[in-house]
Amino acid sequence: MVNFHIITLFPELISVYCSTSIICRGIKAEKIQVKTYNPRDFCHDKYRKVDDTPYGGGVGMVLKPEPFFAAFESIEKSPDSPVLLMTPQGIPFHQDLADTLAEQKDITIICGHYEGFDERIRTLATHEVSIGDFVLTGGELPCLAVIDAVGRLVPGVVGKSISLAHESFVDSLLEGPQYTKPAEFSGMDVPEVLLSGNHQEIARWRRRQALRQTYLKRPDLLKEANLTAEDRQFLESLTRQDC
Ligand SMILES: C[S@@+](CC[C@H](N)C(=O)[O-])C[C@H]1O[C@@H](n2cnc3c(N)ncnc32)[C@H](O)[C@@H]1O
Repeated sequence: MVNFHIITLFPELISVYCSTSIICRGIKAEKIQVKTYNPRDFCHDKYRKVDDTPYGGGVGMVLKPEPFFAAFESIEKSPDSPVLLMTPQGIPFHQDLADTLAEQKDITIICGHYEGFDERIRTLATHEVSIGDFVLTGGELPCLAVIDAVGRLVPGVVGKSISLAHESFVDSLLEGPQYTKPAEFSGMDVPEVLLSGNHQEIARWRRRQALRQTYLKRPDLLKEANLTAEDRQFLESLTRQDC
């Protein structure tokens, strides 16, 4: 069971997403748990103020450290468990990090909002994580991306019918093309080999398609991939076709 502890000013954004589809099923099956902690509940002033103007001047409001520290300290979690701070300045979130996180018992995620957070909040984090080089209004969408990517890797969350083994980024390759019925649609045919029933040939075709897709769309990934001599030969034939 992986327990996600989410520090957010907008817990409803987290709960709406987590009450649908596969993540919801994982929660019902007690494979994952998602708890939210609202810093506003840890304010002691009359207006429950979570932000203030920046020292030194400037536009926007900055999240105050006290309610975030208090929310963080209220979490019952295993010592040394990962604490992710969602920020566009963080390391890009990737599948390897999702794999590592899926083995944890507790994961804390801190979502910023408004202009950002007081620098001292950063000291709570073990990882600063970004979901891309763009700026969103808050950390909730990035946090949900992490919950989803990690949650589906927890054993028992994704049903047996969905295989994780050939997915994109497994073994640093993209997934090859997929087809379903009908075999012919609008003049577009499903490749013959997939209809052949020859499992060895199908596996070979899928591997080659994954290599081809990766070569064409994300050649940078191939550096990390576990390639056989046959894979390399196939990739060289693709390079020759390019010339
Ligand atoms: C408007 S942004 C603040 C951006 C901040 N002023 C800056 O320039 O780095 C508000 C919050 O949204 C979240 N956020 C925005 N874009 C993000 C991204 N690409 N990845 C992760 N979190 C992001 C962070 O939690 C951030 O504190």
